[in-house]
Amino acid sequence: MKATFHQLEVFECVARRLSFTRAAEELGLAQPTVSAQMRQLTDAVGLPLFEQFGKSVQLTAAGRELLATARELLATWSRFEMTVADLTGIKRGELRVACATTAKYFTPDLLGPFCALHPEVEISLNIVNHDGLVERLKRHDDDLTIMTLPPDDLDLDRIRFRDNPLVCVASVLHPLVGKKGLSLAALRSERFVLREPGSGTRRRMDQYFASRGFKPDVRMELGSNEAIKHVVAAGLGISIVSREALDVAPELDRLAILDVEGFPLPDEWFAVVVRGRRLSPVAAAFLAHVRASAAPDAKSPAASGQLSNRLANRKK
Ligand code: PGA
Repeated sequence: MKATFHQLEVFECVARRLSFTRAAEELGLAQPTVSAQMRQLTDAVGLPLFEQFGKSVQLTAAGRELLATARELLATWSRFEMTVADLTGIKRGELRVACATTAKYFTPDLLGPFCALHPEVEISLNIVNHDGLVERLKRHDDDLTIMTLPPDDLDLDRIRFRDNPLVCVASVLHPLVGKKGLSLAALRSERFVLREPGSGTRRRMDQYFASRGFKPDVRMELGSNEAIKHVVAAGLGISIVSREALDVAPELDRLAILDVEGFPLPDEWFAVVVRGRRLSPVAAAFLAHVRASAAPDAKSPAASGQLSNRLANRKK
């Protein structure tokens, strides 16, 4: 039987996505190339591997057997690559990271020590809002994405590694500063200065307010946490921002955190990788580095299981 390693990689992708078109997109190949590879593999096996239903495909019994075998082979090869990377000390390579606008407050602190360990790694960091990250994930632009609320409709591996409490902020001169246990009703006449609708912070806040039937009086929408801080400090309204966006001592920026019911609103940061995307040794090392930075409560068995599976099952 003459099957090539590349054919098995393509097969695994088609079998996972159950579509020649989606597999071609993921692999960056033309669809006729994928079809030709699968025809040759079927000839090599001597039994049909797929059944076609319109545009989607299902695996035959032989296809399911081959999928299990291909996954074992790819995982073995992936482990070999990791070993080689360890032996070479991951000296060089490119790392493409994208992070949410709000993650810019801590992502450099993750990259700094990693760069110090691997000075010849070339890093590109793209900072965009939540919706921008989702678009980049769809295009497979990056090795790794740092975001909140990873979308459920994309096939992603997600590793939770950090909390992202959202707080209600006002100017230090605001009359509600220092008041205990404010209800949402107490904010009814406040002017809100909020992040733009494509932001994860905004999405999380909208979810919470909608769940409580509260409609904020939105007077301004800004695409930058820094701009929001200045506008709030100037007394133009109150806002909801990530605690990450504030100084350890917010009063240095003329800001105060209000004690409002439901706040700090819990939220979480995830390191996200497109499932099935082949991680380079450098990207795998950075993912492990992010995981190692996790606060103790973020080291849930589920999260670490996802990570070890991810590292063990790296495949195209
Ligand atoms: P953002 O960040 O509010 O800056 O978009 C959070 C996110 O990724 O969801």
